[in-house]
Parts: sequence; C-alpha cells; structure tokens
Amino acid sequence: MITILGLGFVGLTTGLGFSKKGFKTYGIDINTERLDKLKNKEIPFYEPHLKDVLEETIGKTFILDAPFEEAIKDSETIFICVGTPAAEDGSADLTYLLSAIDQILAVDDKKFKVIITKSTVPPSTMSARVMPYVDEKYKGLNRNIGFASNPEFLREGYCWEDFIKPDRVVIGVEDEKSKEILDKIYKPFNAPIHYVTYNTAEFIKYLSNTLLSTLISYSNEMSIIASHIGNIDIPKSFRILHEDKRWSGNPAGMASYVYPGCGYGGYCLPKDTSALNSIAIANGVNTQVLDGNLRINDQIKEFVVHKIKEKVNKEDSIGILGLSFKPESDDVRLTPSKDVIEKLLQQGYNNISVYDPIANDSFKENYPHIKVTYKEDLKELLNAVENVVILTGWKEFKENKEMISEKEVFDFRYIY
Ligand SMILES: NC(=O)c1ccc[n+]([C@@H]2O[C@H](COP(=O)([O-])OP(=O)(O)OC[C@H]3O[C@@H](n4cnc5c(N)ncnc54)[C@H](O)[C@@H]3O)[C@@H](O)[C@H]2O)c1
Repeated sequence: MITILGLGFVGLTTGLGFSKKGFKTYGIDINTERLDKLKNKEIPFYEPHLKDVLEETIGKTFILDAPFEEAIKDSETIFICVGTPAAEDGSADLTYLLSAIDQILAVDDKKFKVIITKSTVPPSTMSARVMPYVDEKYKGLNRNIGFASNPEFLREGYCWEDFIKPDRVVIGVEDEKSKEILDKIYKPFNAPIHYVTYNTAEFIKYLSNTLLSTLISYSNEMSIIASHIGNIDIPKSFRILHEDKRWSGNPAGMASYVYPGCGYGGYCLPKDTSALNSIAIANGVNTQVLDGNLRINDQIKEFVVHKIKEKVNKEDSIGILGLSFKPESDDVRLTPSKDVIEKLLQQGYNNISVYDPIANDSFKENYPHIKVTYKEDLKELLNAVENVVILTGWKEFKENKEMISEKEVFDFRYIY
C-alpha cells in the first residue's frame, strides 16, 4: 500500500505508475480543484498517456477518494511529491515538504512506515533538515518511521515512459527495514536500483540538473561570443558539434569528460579555452562560463594540494602515480601533475617519488627543474613511499588497486 502526497507531474505519474504495477495506491492533493478533475478522469495538465492509465486504474488500484487518515494508516510507504520552489534568496523552499510531514505525523499510527521524499531537495535536506525536524517536533511520540530519499528523473512530456521504464532508480536509505520495503516496490520496474546515502541520492539529482543547465548556459554564452565575432553560422556550428563521435562513442566518450579529476591539461584544451576567452573579451564579451571554466582548472589543483596537506606532514614521503595529462598518452604538456608537484615542492614537500607507465622520460625532459625521484615501476614506487597520489587514471593503477591500497591513497582521478 502506497500513499502519494502531491499529484503534480511527479506525484500523479508516480501514483499511476505504482497502481499500474498492481500496488494499491492512494493519491492525495490539497488542491481540491486538481483532485476533482482527477476524480472525473481529467488530467489537470498536458502530459501524454496519463489519461489512459488513470481511466484504467481509478477506483481499482488508484484510489482518490479515501480520507487522508485512512490512506496513511493503510500505507507502508508514503511518497512526498510536493513542490520545492525557489525561495527569495535562491535556496529551496521546504515549507510544503515539512507541512506534508506534519500532516503524516498527525495521524496516530504506530505501524512502521517509510516516508520518502521524491520532491527535489538539496543535498543534506533529509539528514540535516527533515530528520532533526521530526526528532525535535515529535520527540516522545515514539513514532515508528523510516526515511528515504528517492529523486525523480522524469522529463515533462515523457513522464510516463521515463517513470515506467526508468534508466536507473536512486534510493537514499540508511536503514535495512526501509530498504527492504523500497526494494519490493521498485523490483517490478526491472531497472538498476542504486542504494546510496541520503546525501548522495539528493546530490545526484542536482548533479543531473545542474549539468543540463550548465550545458545550456555554455551554449548560450558561445552564441553570444560567436555573434560578437561575426560571420559565424551559430546553429550550423552546434549541429556539426553534435556529430562528434564522443557523444555516443566509447572509449573516451562524452561521459569521460563529465567526470571529476584534477584538471584538464595537454596541448589543446587549456590553450584553446584561454584563446577563445581572450578573443571573446577582445570582442567585448564579459565571459562567465569560459572564465569560470579556466578559474576552476586552477582551483582544482589548489584543492588537490589542500587535501594532501590536510593529512600528510612535510617530511613524509609522497608517491605520484601518473605524469601524463591523460592515460594512453605520454604527453605531459600542461599536465596537472606538473602543477600539483610544483605546488607540493613549494610547500616544502621534498620527499616526492613519481611513476608513470610511459611518461617518466618526457616529464624529466620537459621539466628538468622539478626535483623528484623517478621510479621505474609501480612496485618500486610503492616500496619507497607512505602516501600515494593518483593524478592520471592509468589502467595499471586500476588493476593494482589492492597493492596500491596498502598505502594512504589520494585518488584524484576517482578510479576506485
Ligand atoms: N516537473 C518535473 O519535470 C520534475 C521532474 C523531477 C522532479 N521534480 C520535482 O518534484 C517535485 C514536484 O514537482 P511537480 O512538477 O510535480 O510539482 P507540481 O507543482 O506540479 O505538483 C505539486 C503538487 O503538490 C500539491 N501539494 C502541496 N502540498 C501538499 C500537501 N501537503 N499534501 C498534498 N499535496 C500537496 C500541490 O497542490 C500540487 O498539486 C518538485 O520538487 C520538483 O522539483 C519535478
């Protein structure tokens, strides 16, 4: 038994999706006009397929006329799908979410139930806002509840397809009982289910949406730059960009660029990004995305050094794994390893050994002023150091995880 609070795009689709899978599902909305429309089998907004499913399930597995208390008492899982609009300061307004929780907890029921936020909420909302709120406000009531965070990735216009055939299901859950219940209701969707912490689940949703918004702003900034430079066919340029085999290809497909590391390097990306930024500025464009992009590429190396400094003393030994700017290459031009090693040396870390499967010689040749000890193989490096810093995502380092993990590892390519 499932209750859905909030029957907008997300809640209605979720409710219909579970009822179609055979779960008895109660739909609740405080907007009586919206609810009346639904009871008359009308969808209150434009969204394909939902009407057919509503007609098929209403009164059978999809219940819209049950009293609130009955729905809550009868349900093991309660999905909160209310709005989380932007407050004036830009933060997420959680008023609707917290008031939905108040309504649920006002029902006197001692049976175990899981309260699931499907609404989009910023990372740490469950752990730092919702759970402390419930603890504080309902202490002494001895409520038997679990919590989960289950972000929704559906797209308006494709709500039904996206919900019923999800590419992945993400569930932030930190207790076994809630996990078992969620596992049971999501199994019928035959999609990969990822169980993660509350914060991770909440973060993934923002990771997804901010990537999309960043790509749009990037494209828009590029259109401004192109129009200032002049005589550039903007739509054609973008359509040709879309023919890049990286969009669908492997290896080194687009996904490998949307992955954190310790900065981009090599011959092309750093110089071309700064060249376009310069010409844009010369043409009077106050760049934001490009300028931010360049600054982040410096900032990430400061971050790497900061993380090492937090744990490693100056006299301790450090082993750098990877000198080339990317795996399968011995190109060390503008490689992040150079900046990171230089910064460490400047900070007084003088006991640095380095190893790269193929780029030791070119690094030594290009940067003779960098005083480090070169090691011929991985074992030799590991024998010489206490701390290991991975700066290039070589396959050899992935394959030797066990051996490398005996050391204190700083994995700045996130290969493990
Ligand atoms: N629209 C999308 O494409 C989409 C996709 C993924 C995630 N989300 C997120 O899902 C959440 C819901 O989005 P939406 O587009 O469905 O919103 P919506 O505004 O269409 O629907 C929210 C519904 O919740 C109802 N509601 C508010 N308080 C309630 C309460 N206490 N009890 C019962 N009902 C209540 C409202 O009356 C409204 O009908 C938001 O956090 C949004 O960011 C939206």
